[in-house]
Amino acid sequence: MCGIVGFNGHKNGIPKIIKGLESLEYRGYDSAGIAYINNERITIKKEKGRIKNLKDLITEKENAYLGIGHTRWATHGEPTKENAHPHQQGKFTLVHNGIIENYMELQKILKDKHYAFISQTDTEVACALIDYYYQKDANIKMAILNASKQMRGAFAFGIICEDDKETLYAIRKTSPLIIAKSKDGNFIASDVPAILEFTNEYFLLNDLELAEITKDNITFYNEELKEIKKESSLFEGNLEASQKGGYEHFMLKEIHEQDEIIKNTIACYYDGTIASLDKSFPDLTKFNKIDIVACGSAYHTGLCAKSFIENYANIPVNVEVASEYRYKKCFYDKNTLVILVSQSGETADTLAALRKAKKDGITTLAIVNVVGSNIAREADYTLYIKAGCEIAVATTKAYLAQVAMFSLLAIYLGYKKGLIQEEELIEINKDIKNLPKMIRKTIDNDLYFKIADQIYENKNIFFIGRGLDYALCMEGSLKLKEISYINSVAYQAGELKHGTISLIEKDTPVIALSTEDELREKTISNIKEAKSRGAKVIYVTNKIPEEKFYDEIITIEKIHPILQSILTMIPLQLMSYKVAKNKNCDIDKPRNLAKSVTVE
Ligand code: AGP
Repeated sequence: MCGIVGFNGHKNGIPKIIKGLESLEYRGYDSAGIAYINNERITIKKEKGRIKNLKDLITEKENAYLGIGHTRWATHGEPTKENAHPHQQGKFTLVHNGIIENYMELQKILKDKHYAFISQTDTEVACALIDYYYQKDANIKMAILNASKQMRGAFAFGIICEDDKETLYAIRKTSPLIIAKSKDGNFIASDVPAILEFTNEYFLLNDLELAEITKDNITFYNEELKEIKKESSLFEGNLEASQKGGYEHFMLKEIHEQDEIIKNTIACYYDGTIASLDKSFPDLTKFNKIDIVACGSAYHTGLCAKSFIENYANIPVNVEVASEYRYKKCFYDKNTLVILVSQSGETADTLAALRKAKKDGITTLAIVNVVGSNIAREADYTLYIKAGCEIAVATTKAYLAQVAMFSLLAIYLGYKKGLIQEEELIEINKDIKNLPKMIRKTIDNDLYFKIADQIYENKNIFFIGRGLDYALCMEGSLKLKEISYINSVAYQAGELKHGTISLIEKDTPVIALSTEDELREKTISNIKEAKSRGAKVIYVTNKIPEEKFYDEIITIEKIHPILQSILTMIPLQLMSYKVAKNKNCDIDKPRNLAKSVTVE
């Protein structure tokens, strides 16, 4: 996803913008650029590839108090210098995050008005459209608003105009953008890490609200161009929280934060009494059906939730990928709760699914990490996980915190329906109390790295499990795929004999999960099927078996089933990390991936 950073202040903004872009690298990009005003001129520098290539174009003596920077994750047009942002048309220069869906039709209209285009991007068309309205109205803010209202799709713009070299403008619709003030000057940014070195106070823009940013002031306008007042927010984390803290990669740091994250997330809602959940959660007891809708790892948390909620609250749960759900026929009604799960709160497909359910009058609940994100703001109810800033593209701590949130939800619903009794709640509370210590103990085990050293050169690695373990296999397999680029698939253990077992060759690693008592025996017989065909079996379990049908065994502590997933996932995260490290992959910024996919 693209990154935007802009600055207008009393100090040289170029280094601040570059630093801000570097803190947004985790979003994924393939080119970078900057535009700034000095000596009464707008200078644009941009280059394909990493930010380092852009820095090589900027000499020490370059100094500017007003500028806009951008990291581009290509959507329209190849990752080339011409397509990199900023783009310029007429009096305007801008950077953009999002997709203008009607840019072709707008481009045609503008070409008829003698605008010419050098890039393949929708962004250049947006810039020309603003200039077109400016040529007509000679009013910068009105031109930005009129053009924005004509664009369909998602956008966040940072804009400078030749006729007003003292002001930075910003406007958004759907794509994220924050406005921040610091002692050195004022910022715009796609996400909080870009400004944390300078301030943690920021403002959120609503759709089609416009910010006019001078060195000393920030003025907000609504879409009728009426001035509006806004309250600022304070980001709870700090710069250190958004840096590596001595770990080689953000992903490893974030895995190691999980004991704290889970403790904080649970403690924020639950003190061991159902009364605390009554206070924390909206009344969800009227719903007799739940749809959980998300993408990627967030979808996998829904698969875990299905197991918890169906088994402990006896409510049918349907888990769907958002990109399908948003277009399919949905069998929901006023007694259905639609739960949207999203770390970033900006994933386009998940946001679209939310909007579809709301349009149909269905109650929506969001489980989100990023405060003030679109999904968080538009859902009827929002439960924030306390995972802090997650920088690595491959989610770990946010995934685990979302799973923990679903555990709490299942406990709440199960108890309210009289299916979880006091004595079971006491057992669960004992495990919750010990959970941070057990997470720490599970993390601090070098066995997973040793096993990763044995399997990292394999071309195919399979995960198998039944029930809840299959849901965990799905996430373990995605972690491995997205950071190590090894082909990996998760199979329901019972499915192996229906075709997939033909893929097993000598020493093919099969990571087999078995943590549920009632399914253990069946899973073990599936493991033996794979083993007898030469598989190298890595057995992950909470109960050491008598016989040795495996090559390696990873044992985790056995805790209440509604919490067990939180421990089971940790070895899979760390194994994937070490496999990718052995393969010298770009662990925090895997190729082709973005931290949040705000395009369809
Ligand atoms: C997770 O490791 C992936 N990077 C990806 O699948 C992610 O979970 C998915 O894009 C959903 O993102 P969200 O939680 O921000 O909506």
